[in-house]
Amino acid sequence: MVKKLFLSLFSLVFFNLYSQNDLTNDRLDWFKDAKLGIFIHWGYYGVNGITESWSMYHKRISHTDYLKQGEQFTASNYNPEQWLDLFDRIGAKYVVLTTKHHDGVALWDTKYSSLNTVKHAAAKKDLLVPFVNAVRNKGMKLGFYYSLCDWSHPDYSPVTFERIKNVKKFYPQKEQKNSSPWERFVTFNFNQLEELSAYKPDLYWFDGDWEHKAEEWKSAEIKKSLLKWNPKVIVNSRLNEYGDYKTPEQGVPIVRPEGAWEFCMTMNDNWGYFPSDTNYKPIAQIIRTFVEVISTGGNLLLNIGPKPDGTIAKEQVERLEALGQWIQTHKEAVYNTEAGLPYGHFYGPTMLSKDHKKLYLCLFDAPKNYIQLKGIQTKVKSIKVLGSDENLTFERNGGAAWNNIPGILRISVPSEKSLNPYVTILEVELEKELVLYRGHGNAVELNM
Ligand code: GLC
Repeated sequence: MVKKLFLSLFSLVFFNLYSQNDLTNDRLDWFKDAKLGIFIHWGYYGVNGITESWSMYHKRISHTDYLKQGEQFTASNYNPEQWLDLFDRIGAKYVVLTTKHHDGVALWDTKYSSLNTVKHAAAKKDLLVPFVNAVRNKGMKLGFYYSLCDWSHPDYSPVTFERIKNVKKFYPQKEQKNSSPWERFVTFNFNQLEELSAYKPDLYWFDGDWEHKAEEWKSAEIKKSLLKWNPKVIVNSRLNEYGDYKTPEQGVPIVRPEGAWEFCMTMNDNWGYFPSDTNYKPIAQIIRTFVEVISTGGNLLLNIGPKPDGTIAKEQVERLEALGQWIQTHKEAVYNTEAGLPYGHFYGPTMLSKDHKKLYLCLFDAPKNYIQLKGIQTKVKSIKVLGSDENLTFERNGGAAWNNIPGILRISVPSEKSLNPYVTILEVELEKELVLYRGHGNAVELNM
C-alpha cells in the first residue's frame, strides 16, 4: 500500500515536472527559430531628441518639461502597416514595442492613467491597437515592452528628480482602504498588464526590474497571471528570476549563453529618436553582429527609434534594408539552422542546419591561401558559396583517418566576385549527419 502510494505520488510529481518543462520548451519554440526581431522605442523623448526617460532621472530635464514634449508628439504620419511591410520584407519574425517606458507614458488608452497618447499627447489616439493589427496581419509575433517602474506614478518611489506637484491627477486610482502606496502601485501594474494582455501578446519584454526585489514587484504572481491570461506567452529575463530567456544588451556575449537568448542592440548609441546622435554602426557591423548572434544560438533584437510623427529615420531604414538584403541571399544559413561548431574547428562563426547535414562557414574578410576546417569526421560532399553558387574544391590533409583523427580540410579560396561585401557564407554539404572530432590528440599507435 505504502509502495503504491509512493509510486503514484512519484509519478504525479514527475509527470507535473515533465509536462511543465514540456510547456516551457513548447512556448519557446517559435522564439528559438526567430533569429531577427525589431525593437521599437517610441515615446515623448524623440520630440527633444533626448535620452528616453533617463534624461529626467539624471536631471537633464525637469519632469514638467519632459511631459511637455507630449504637445509635439503628433504621430501624424504613423503608418504601422508600412512599418510592418518593412520588417516583414527584411525577414524579421517578431516586433517588440515600448508600450510604456520608465517615464510612465502609455501608448494605449489605459484607464489606469491619463498619461497616455490619447489624453496627454498631440496624437490624441491609441497607438497600440493599429500596431497590434498590423503585426497580426503579417502573421508576426507580437512583443510588448513594459517598464515595471513608473517614475511618474505618485505611489512609486524613490525617484531622483522632483515630480510635478499634482502628479496624482494623472493616476485616477480609487482610494484603497488600508493599502500602502507600494501595494497600490503593484495593483496598478497588475491592472495595466491585464489591459495589455487583452491583445494577447506573444512576448512580454519587462524592464527596470533592478529597482526592486522579485517579492516587491510580485514577479512570481505577475508571471502566473500572464500565463493565466495567455498560456503561450513568453517573458524576457527582466522579471527578476522569472523570465524564460536571457536578454543581454548592447555588448555581444563573449561566452555562449545557455538556453534561449536574445541580444538587443541600438543602431547608434540611443534607443529613442536622437537626431544629434549620428554615431551609427556601419552596415557591416550590424550584419556581422547578427551572424555572431545566430551562430551562437541567439536572436538579434535590433532597435529603431521612430520620430514623433511616426516615420523612421532614413539611416535606420537603410540599415534594416541592407540587413534584409543580406538575409535574403543567405536565408538557408539563417533560418532552419541552429548554433554552429564549438570553438576550435573554424576561425569564424558557423551555423548548422537542423538536420545536421549542412554546415555554414562565415567569412568576415577575404581569405588568403586556403580556408581551413578542422575536426570534421563526416565525409564532405560539396562546398559552395551562398549567393554566387561557385563550387569550391577541397582536400583533406594530415590526420590519421584509420585512427579516427581527421586532419584538416583545405578549402580553396572563392573568386573575388563571389565574396559578399559584408559576410560571405560557404555551404558545406556533408554525406551524413555531422560527427565531430573533439579529441586532445594522442599517439597514432598503429601506423599504416
Ligand atoms: C535599458 C534602459 C532602457 C532601455 C532598455 C532596452 O535597460 O534602461 O532605457 O529601454 O535598456 O534594452
